[in-house]
Amino acid sequence: MAQLWGGRFTRETDKLVYNFNASIGFDKKFYKQDIEGSIAHVIMLEKQGILSKKEKDEIVKGLTGIRQDVENGILQITEEYEDIHSFVEANLIERIGEAGKKLHTGRSRNDQVALDMRLYTRTEVLAVDELLKELLETLLHMMEENTETYMPGFTHLQKAQPVTLAHHIGAYFEMFKRDRLRMRDIYGRMNYCPLGAGALAGTTYPLDRYYTASLLGFEAPTLNSMDSVSDRDYLIEFLSALSTIMMHLSRFCEEIIIWNSNEYRFVEIDDSYATGSSIMPQKKNPDIAELIRGKTGRVYGALTAILTTMKGLPLAYNKDMQEDKELTFDAIDTVKGCLALFEGMVRTMKFNQPVMEKSAMMGFTNATDAADYLVGKGVAFRDAHSIIGKLVLYCIDKKCSIDELSIEELKTISPVFEEDVYDKISLKTCVEKRLTFGAPGPEVMRRVIQMEKEYLAGDWYHEMEIPESLS
Ligand code: ARG
Repeated sequence: MAQLWGGRFTRETDKLVYNFNASIGFDKKFYKQDIEGSIAHVIMLEKQGILSKKEKDEIVKGLTGIRQDVENGILQITEEYEDIHSFVEANLIERIGEAGKKLHTGRSRNDQVALDMRLYTRTEVLAVDELLKELLETLLHMMEENTETYMPGFTHLQKAQPVTLAHHIGAYFEMFKRDRLRMRDIYGRMNYCPLGAGALAGTTYPLDRYYTASLLGFEAPTLNSMDSVSDRDYLIEFLSALSTIMMHLSRFCEEIIIWNSNEYRFVEIDDSYATGSSIMPQKKNPDIAELIRGKTGRVYGALTAILTTMKGLPLAYNKDMQEDKELTFDAIDTVKGCLALFEGMVRTMKFNQPVMEKSAMMGFTNATDAADYLVGKGVAFRDAHSIIGKLVLYCIDKKCSIDELSIEELKTISPVFEEDVYDKISLKTCVEKRLTFGAPGPEVMRRVIQMEKEYLAGDWYHEMEIPESLS
């Protein structure tokens, strides 16, 4: 049991208490950030005359050595330390002696952990953004290939009007694009440095918080020390955005599961992304899509848990906040895994274009266009709606589609029908004439795809790259 405190205690910590309290099992994940923050802290302490140059150099060398040894597997982060902060400090003192004891001058684990978690999250925001970008590139490619692949568009999961596959995928493109914007917003709002807030009330040492903030690539230091050590809003925002990503993935997965079913056969998931059954030899199941849909609950769970943990906490730091880590780490890893797998699954998936097109022709997806045809011939829309309603009923009875009726039959329903109706309500016309900006008409869709290409080429991510870690 190695801990950073004990002077005012007369008895050892109970073993169960120690284990319950310890966080090393999971906060070891940010050993790099902990070391990076410590290096920036001592560089600032030296600049301010609080540490000598010799002490600073010894500490930086010691910390860099610890980082390298952990990376090379020479030094294991073991559970005998209470947390990652104790691990680093104890190892530093062991390596360099007296100077190591000065590392924690003007700092508390409260501002230290607030910094570590922010540094860790900041990198992960960029990583999630990058995965979203890769997914968008794949989706855009699929859109380009399918501007003329007709398929039924649905409302209430009932066939509504024909669209194209490019247009359907394009809807998800917009969702994931907004997810990227959320990453950008979160990054901008969280990029302030809490270090120097101390336990809660700053310190009497003459720290230069602006300097530490700039060393670590932050916009500026945070403005209130009590808020700095107890703010977890950025995690809540991130988890909320991650939940939204999962909601989008889950909706798309649900559609893929439906499209992949025997009844639809719109798509075939590649063998490398499907699984079989132990009993039914014919089965090829969409497990990956189902698992992504399933894991959505777990990410929502993390968001709900942290919101609940935070809701009753008085200012400033409380140990409850330690609960933020496992939840956040799990949610981040889950979302990253799901994004990568989903991208591979859709990239390798085969679309069954003829089946989609045939399906678009059935189910009266051209009924609105038939009503619009009558409007073009001078019938009021409400009357046209009612005429086509009767026509649909007639077709259901005859088990045929509107365009399979002869002109004579059409005329018995309304004398306004003429030969040109067949062209006006053909699947091709129904799709190609939908040229409202944002609609599936291939001509307008290609314009939108061009805009999306330009969007993907311009990139906030590269402008905001975080600095090389301090060494
Ligand atoms: N493991 C703690 C956490 O994750 C670090 C901060 C500890 N601070 C304290 N005063 N006990 O929140």
